[in-house]
Amino acid sequence: MTSFSRITGTGSYLPPRRVTNDDLARELAARGVETSDQWIVERTGIRARHFAAPDVTSSDLALEACRHALEAAGRRADEVDLIIVATSTPDMVFPSSAAILQRKLGVAGCPAFDVQAVCSGFVYALTVADALIRTGTARCALVVGAEVFSRILDFNDRTTCVLFGDGAGAVVLEASETPGILASDLHADGKHAGILCVPGQVSGGAILGTPLLHMDGQAVFKLAVRVLEESARATLAKAGKTEADLDWLIPHQANIRIMEGTARKLKMSREKLIVTVDEHGNTSAASIPLALDFAVRQGKIQKGDTLMLEGVGGGFTWGAVLLNL
Ligand code: ACO
Repeated sequence: MTSFSRITGTGSYLPPRRVTNDDLARELAARGVETSDQWIVERTGIRARHFAAPDVTSSDLALEACRHALEAAGRRADEVDLIIVATSTPDMVFPSSAAILQRKLGVAGCPAFDVQAVCSGFVYALTVADALIRTGTARCALVVGAEVFSRILDFNDRTTCVLFGDGAGAVVLEASETPGILASDLHADGKHAGILCVPGQVSGGAILGTPLLHMDGQAVFKLAVRVLEESARATLAKAGKTEADLDWLIPHQANIRIMEGTARKLKMSREKLIVTVDEHGNTSAASIPLALDFAVRQGKIQKGDTLMLEGVGGGFTWGAVLLNL
């Protein structure tokens, strides 16, 4: 009897267009918006991000990430019996990006749905997939974070448009007799919805409100550092572990100062922190599986290592997953 789920392969994909801070500063200057590489690096740790071409959607990025993850797991798409995509920038209002992805993978029949928890989306999706595997509903899941955040950025707002990028990351999560996922912890508090949102909706064929990202950066910063520490501690406690048991911390890649602040509070050394925000920017739901895959492919993270994945984002939502790879 299988009672656990375990990651058996990771994959990721970045669209080819890499935009450095200097490139972005030049593009923004043409609109009369002033920023600089120095400001962005000092405040966020971001040096570059990738932007998808206009005709490329989240499911296109997800497809490439899934191909790499399936290859790493030694699985074919037709062996997958569950697809969950975490995204806040889906291809359409409906159907889900997961259903579109399923078709692009050339398979049919298995359940496929999106999870909307903004930058916490991947830890939410992983927790749902783990639960479905533990109950025997699924045996081989694709869990994906995929975003084209460039579509919802206001390039006249320098306080937000320099922070985000596009990309996708995926894992294959399979039923296992030995524990992979050890514990998880999910939360939301909707009273903070206004500090990070895209306050627009489709109605009667028109867009009501503003379909561009709005953020109160300082409010987000304070909340993020607090809840990331609390969630990491709660997850460790559920698994009967301590910070000393962790080999790697993979927080949502939003801002190096938030990430280093969390590591400091958990008394983890900087060497144990996986950082890709410098090259990817904030890719929302994609950031954690992207960082995981990069660290695995660099040979930093090894099979058997104990990892803490942590997300925080709009909603407000937050959570963590503790796992053995
Ligand atoms: N380039 C140059 N100057 C800028 C820029 C920019 N891109 N953006 C803002 N400034 C200016 C401001 O106008 C302000 O100027 P002023 O003093 O003349 O008014 C000055 O820089 C300081 O602005 P603050 O907003 O106070 O800067 P702060 O130190 O708070 O840094 C930041 C802003 C980086 C957004 C910070 O608040 C932060 O990191 N917040 C966390 C938000 C985050 O990471 N969000 C990601 C999404 S949420 C998530 O994923 C969890």
